Amino acid sequence: MLCYTPCSLLKGTIFLALTFIYQSNAQLSSTFYSNTCPNVSSIVSNVIQQALQSDTRITASLTRLHFHDCFVNGCDASLLLDQSGNITQSEKNATPNNNSARGFGVVDSIKTAVENSCPGVVSCADILALAAEASVSLAGGPSWNVLLGRRDSLIANQSGANSSIPSPTESLANITAKFSAVGLNTTDLVALSGAHTFGRAQCRFFNQRLFNFSGTGSPDPTLNSTFLSTLQQKCPQNGNGTTLNNLDPSSIDTFDNNYYANLLTNQGLLQTDQELFSTNGSATISIVNNFANNQTEFFQAFAQSMINMGNINPLTGNQGEIRSDCKKVNGS
Ligand code: HEM
Ligand SMILES: *[C@@H]1O[C@H](CO)[C@@H](O)[C@H](O)[C@H]1NC(C)=O
Ligand SMILES: *[C@@H]1O[C@H](CO)[C@@H](O)[C@H](O)[C@H]1NC(C)=O
Ligand SMILES: *[C@@H]1O[C@H](CO)[C@@H](O)[C@H](O)[C@H]1NC(C)=O
Ligand SMILES: *[C@@H]1O[C@H](CO)[C@@H](O)[C@H](O)[C@H]1NC(C)=O
Ligand SMILES: *[C@@H]1O[C@H](CO)[C@@H](O)[C@H](O)[C@H]1NC(C)=O
Ligand SMILES: *[C@@H]1O[C@H](CO)[C@@H](O)[C@H](O)[C@H]1NC(C)=O
Ligand SMILES: *[C@@H]1O[C@H](CO)[C@@H](O)[C@H](O)[C@H]1NC(C)=O
Ligand SMILES: *[C@@H]1O[C@H](CO)[C@@H](O)[C@H](O)[C@H]1NC(C)=O
Ligand SMILES: *[C@@H]1O[C@H](CO)[C@@H](O)[C@H](O)[C@H]1NC(C)=O
Ligand SMILES: *[C@@H]1O[C@H](CO)[C@@H](O)[C@H](O)[C@H]1NC(C)=O
Ligand SMILES: *[C@@H]1O[C@H](CO)[C@@H](O)[C@H](O)[C@H]1NC(C)=O
Ligand SMILES: *[C@@H]1O[C@H](CO)[C@@H](O)[C@H](O)[C@H]1NC(C)=O
Repeated sequence: MLCYTPCSLLKGTIFLALTFIYQSNAQLSSTFYSNTCPNVSSIVSNVIQQALQSDTRITASLTRLHFHDCFVNGCDASLLLDQSGNITQSEKNATPNNNSARGFGVVDSIKTAVENSCPGVVSCADILALAAEASVSLAGGPSWNVLLGRRDSLIANQSGANSSIPSPTESLANITAKFSAVGLNTTDLVALSGAHTFGRAQCRFFNQRLFNFSGTGSPDPTLNSTFLSTLQQKCPQNGNGTTLNNLDPSSIDTFDNNYYANLLTNQGLLQTDQELFSTNGSATISIVNNFANNQTEFFQAFAQSMINMGNINPLTGNQGEIRSDCKKVNGS
């Protein structure tokens, strides 16, 4: 552009305007696909309903995938990339996911169904967000308006998955720090932990509590003795650590607030579950009591916290891409 002084002012204005447009692109929106894929929510929900016919656990598994995606480089479907070609260290193979995260085949089925209606439009990261909402809703939990417009990553971050996803043997202070690192507070931590109202956990994730907790020679003192006996039988000392257990035995595949009632009676399955209620003096205790006493309160908080989690560092605008196969970067 040929310029004299007033023109450089104009250039500044155009720059500011473009910056503004770019930043407004960075906001997710519930109407992002209104014109380009108006039925995307029902397409996602319909595929999950199909999958539920043969896998009652799938709603839990899909909900967990969105969490494990968002905590590593933001909600960008980095979790879904297979280890091949330029992806030398996948997140799927990271410690918290390997032989644990599941539901990838159903994500692929959802993607196929969505591509059939609206080719090249809907990101895999948004599919994970929509699948989590549809799953919670189908299991009896709350519904919410999912914010959309995320794009898909070109990379995976295995070391990030190793370090950023909470482990079930961590202290409450450490878990709180991992949530805080992605902008989620203590209310979010307690509300989102309520996702352990459905799904399963393998013995290897909690058997350190059952016989010799932290080298004390005794079980975790915060474990209800009746529940302890049951778990010792399901997960014997030299048994197979892959045996599955219901995270919420009182209502296994239903999304409700029984998870919190379990904590009140020392029946949290994972160490990190029980810590929310049994850590002396913790700010989490009153929040657990509140959600145990009022399911409406829990459902509202859970929906808000899922939106908060879904907002972690999305790729937007011209960042990343819309993958055509959730398992691979385009062109690879
Ligand atoms: C607070 C820290 C958390 C820790 C330490 C944790 C840890 C775990 C572990 C160890 C399992 C069992 C995995 C297996 O046996 O293969 C599990 C399952 C699950 N987690 Fe979490 N989790 C946490 C938070 C969350 C959050 C925030 C969500 C979602 C909002 C979530 C959703 C789930 C679901 C639904 C399952 C069952 C999955 C299935 O059956 O396939 N978790 N979690
Ligand atoms: C959207 O779904 C409705 C009902 O499920 C159906 O009648 C309509 O044809 C669908 N529209 C598109 C564009 O797929
Ligand atoms: C993932 O689990 C498989 C066993 O199923 C194991 O062979 C592999 O080494 C594990 N990967 C990593 C990165 O730990
Ligand atoms: C992630 O942790 C596993 C188990 O400790 C390890 O084998 C793997 O190399 C780690 N990945 C990275 C990229 O650090
Ligand atoms: C991987 O994740 C870690 C921890 O979340 C982060 O510090 C690092 O910048 C990430 N690496 C890349 C290449 O995105
Ligand atoms: C908490 O995090 C610190 C620093 O990463 C680590 O050294 C410590 O082992 C962790 N504690 C627990 C109980 O996980
Ligand atoms: C967490 O943030 C929400 C706003 O998103 C706020 O309502 C809530 O009080 C905060 N919780 C804590 C413990 O600070
Ligand atoms: C418990 O673990 C500690 C440390 O690992 C060990 O020294 C102790 O012998 C164990 N106690 C029993 C009863 O197995
Ligand atoms: C544990 O059980 C799984 C599934 O039944 C099996 O594949 C695995 O080989 C078993 N591992 C051991 C150590 O028995
Ligand atoms: C242990 O669980 C039972 C229900 O199975 C409950 O009645 C009891 O109060 C619990 N005990 C403690 C100490 O929480
Ligand atoms: C928490 O407080 C209770 C009752 O005051 C006490 O019995 C217990 O040992 C304390 N637990 C911890 C981990 O400090
Ligand atoms: C439960 O919480 C909801 C939402 O905050 C509130 O409207 C309702 O009055 C509460 N119910 C009870 C019984 O406290
Ligand atoms: C893989 O990495 C190479 C080297 O950085 C790059 O030239 C190529 O475009 C990448 N392939 C894909 C499919 O991204």
